Amino acid sequence: MVGQLKPHIFFHSNIDSPDEWRAALATEFEDFTFSVGREIASPESVDVALIWTLPDDGLERFVNLRAILSLGAGIDQLDLGRLPKHVPIARLVDASLTRTMVEYAKTAVYRYHRRFHVFERQSRNCQWTFIPPTVSAATSIGVLGLGEIGREIALALQHEGFAVHGWSRTPKKLEGVTTHTGRDGLTRMVGSSNIVLNVLPLTEETRHMLCRDLFAQFKDGACLINMGRGAHLVESDLLDAIASGKIDAATLDVAAVEPLPRSHPFWNHPGILITPHVAGTSVPMAAVVTIAANIRRAMAGECLLHQVDSDRAHRV
Ligand code: GLV
Repeated sequence: MVGQLKPHIFFHSNIDSPDEWRAALATEFEDFTFSVGREIASPESVDVALIWTLPDDGLERFVNLRAILSLGAGIDQLDLGRLPKHVPIARLVDASLTRTMVEYAKTAVYRYHRRFHVFERQSRNCQWTFIPPTVSAATSIGVLGLGEIGREIALALQHEGFAVHGWSRTPKKLEGVTTHTGRDGLTRMVGSSNIVLNVLPLTEETRHMLCRDLFAQFKDGACLINMGRGAHLVESDLLDAIASGKIDAATLDVAAVEPLPRSHPFWNHPGILITPHVAGTSVPMAAVVTIAANIRRAMAGECLLHQVDSDRAHRV
């Protein structure tokens, strides 16, 4: 649909393509200004910031900014303390992004369920050892976080026949998934999961939640998949838990410092697979529908879709 608005959109991302986003926005707005980088003729005319991370010089010069729209499902990468307090912020909730997260979760889960991580180690040692496969119902998966993405992952894994549990801050009901809440629920869930998969949002409550105390409650030899944020994990505690055999292996799409520094002990660790924050990406031509809806809302002074309570960072 072609709208009558003429929004001025400031774009900033080191991973998303400005050209693809400009083309996608052109399908929604007949006339708009799209600014990228430092050289902007009239910063005071910028209406909306469409960004993955905060540019070095922040957003202060955009004195008439009406909305900050994240290009990601999370917003913590935006350095919330440096954002103008009065400007509403929205996460990107988009089917194309959720689909890629679900695909990643299934790939990582099947790699453990079908013991590919063990066969990878065996093949490095020219070792032919038969390990009988098990049925999916025998693999129990605990999903940490049942927001828009977590619930789709839990349902997709349940559909594959896995025994799926889910934990969230507030109680949730999900067909075919055993749900838990509270500290006791968390202990129960991780204690019965062969694979623990994290998609929690990063908040002050969830920071460093994947730590020694929680690992002590894990089932012996469990696997960990972290698709949330690097700051959920105490990295040295994971190394200890793998060294002791408490945790068998981990797949980490996120790290405390990204890119993961070359000297980091996670590189070349036989029990750890690193992927470079690729689990969820949105397709501009699809996600633009939600973004354009929020640009229209911002221009009309309305509440945004998926607006974030900046005090809480975002919801579980
Ligand atoms: C990716 O990490 C996102 O927040 O979308």
